[in-house]
Amino acid sequence: MDSIRIRGGKPLSGRIAIGGAKNAALPLMTAGLLTEQRLVLENVPQLADISTMASLLAQHGIAVDNVTDDGRSLSLGGAISNTEAPYDIVRKMRASILVLGPLLARVGEARVSLPGGCAIGTRPVDLHLKGLEQMGARIDLDGGYIHASVQGRLRGATIVLPFASVGATENLLMAAALADGQTVLANVAREPEITDLADCLVAMGARIAGIGTDRLTIEGVDALHGATHRIIPDRIETGTYACAAAITGGEVRLVNARLDHLGAVARTLREAGVEMTEEADGLLVRRANGLHGVDVMTEPYPGFPTDMQAQYMVLMSVAEGAAMVTETIFENRFMHVPELNRMGARINVHGASAIVRGVSALSGAPVMATDLRASVSLILAGLAAKGETVVNRVYHLDRGYEAVEQKLAACGADIERLSR
Ligand code: EPZ
Repeated sequence: MDSIRIRGGKPLSGRIAIGGAKNAALPLMTAGLLTEQRLVLENVPQLADISTMASLLAQHGIAVDNVTDDGRSLSLGGAISNTEAPYDIVRKMRASILVLGPLLARVGEARVSLPGGCAIGTRPVDLHLKGLEQMGARIDLDGGYIHASVQGRLRGATIVLPFASVGATENLLMAAALADGQTVLANVAREPEITDLADCLVAMGARIAGIGTDRLTIEGVDALHGATHRIIPDRIETGTYACAAAITGGEVRLVNARLDHLGAVARTLREAGVEMTEEADGLLVRRANGLHGVDVMTEPYPGFPTDMQAQYMVLMSVAEGAAMVTETIFENRFMHVPELNRMGARINVHGASAIVRGVSALSGAPVMATDLRASVSLILAGLAAKGETVVNRVYHLDRGYEAVEQKLAACGADIERLSR
């Protein structure tokens, strides 16, 4: 199991290239199931989750080929030969559930393992299943698997989500693209990754109105054709490295970053004392003077993203004053707190809220990573801490952050991976 060692206290300075968005790339890859023609995706991040998704699609019959040697352009195509998504893949990556809608829409059946819970919560998929049932699918749960089938085509329906689930929105949008008739999806998630998926589906011939809003109207078509689509930059990677620049008191240019996707993150960081300036090729981020505590509550887009909660909490742990951080999306997303407190942070959790009282400095320590965003928050803490930090179980990190130690080392961080 690899670990990452950091000797903190060095201000970051330099440029970091922001990669394609993981949470756009994963649903976009499942869109390859929706057409017998080739879907080409560009700006694909090099992540463990992308490889896992490629393996999942390959066992469905969809070959995922490198168009360029660097693996950042993928060509997906093939005939669906297997409609089962097995437990041993799904348990490793919950986004596997996103093959359900496309398989049902293309071939009328799917047998997908229930993803099960994960470190941050139970993460049910009931909204995905209820929506597909409204579109005429028969759904049975047996032996830990979802057995879904439909006679003929899925049919359009009006579906109102009780809350803006990202995955449910994506599964139902892809299913509706090939359904018979009109589907209205109301109260859907509006994350930029969903807009990116919708834009790609339209390029493939889908008929979607309301893109970027919380109400999508889809006129189903008989078939979708191939397309080439460039994936948007990763706004969570952008926010993460913005926090790295701020917490080390450095100055970093985030190349290809898009400020317009950062909404509440940019507003909150600026209020906390972080300078973010748009430049021709990205975003210049540095700490103006001191950092001070600003309360935050995670919410669906355009609110403050839950995927930035842990990273922001680290920034607040060394800010002037105090900040209340409230997590409204997942029920167990504070596992970074005990590890940060071992590094000298002063964070108290009360239910869904954590009060963070700023300290003058964190101190390095061996810490344990538990999930993707908690892992990177410990890296951020190590960058700022006095002394040495060793983050263990970094396989979580590799799922969502490409070459994190190389990107940080190139900006002056004393960071290296220890392979055990
Ligand atoms: C996506 O997960 C992201 N993953 C998550 O990013 C992100 O945290 C989350 O959206 C919220 O923004 C990908 O895009 C691959 P949800 P998803 O459906 O689709 C509950 C990361 O770190 N819920 O919006 O699973 C659920 O339990 C990952 O990159 C139901 O109750 O998120 C959760 O509490 C972590 N029933 C809340 O809704 C359902 O049918 C939000 O879930 C579906 C969800």
